[in-house]
Amino acid sequence: MRWSSILAALPLLVAACKRPAPADEGVALSPRAEQGKALFSTHCAACHAPSTKLVGPPLTEMASLYATDPEGIVRWAVTPGRKRTDVPPMPSFRGMRTSDLADVAQYIIEAGTAAGKQKP
Ligand code: HEC
Repeated sequence: MRWSSILAALPLLVAACKRPAPADEGVALSPRAEQGKALFSTHCAACHAPSTKLVGPPLTEMASLYATDPEGIVRWAVTPGRKRTDVPPMPSFRGMRTSDLADVAQYIIEAGTAAGKQKP
């Protein structure tokens, strides 16, 4: 076996080792999104589901709104706007650290984008 072929296989090996548990629905999250995931479960999941509307919009919708603007999610969480009049307003999360909210935003974008692709 040549060194070049061993080297070529390395990224695959690394990716296989990092593969997340099945609970992640086969989504490979970045380390920041992994951090955000736990915070999301604690603070946001009661009202936001992956692809169905609970109280607030699903992750799929948030990801498509903010795919290139994670800061926008942080701003919204600190000072929620008022868009969807069929639901109560979202409470503010200004008590949370901005860096934690940025991790949550990263999770929303990565998980929401993945959930959107899994949809039939
Ligand atoms: C008590 C329920 C509740 C919780 C908890 C909650 N949200 Fe929301 N969220 C809502 C509702 C309701 C809306 C829709 C409000 C509207 O459109 O007027 C919303 C909308 C959003 C939106 C869409 C913004 C847009 O531009 O349309 C984002 C992003 C969001 N929430 C992020 C978060 C994050 C991040 C957390 C956790 C830190 C969180 N939410 C926790 C209820 C909640």
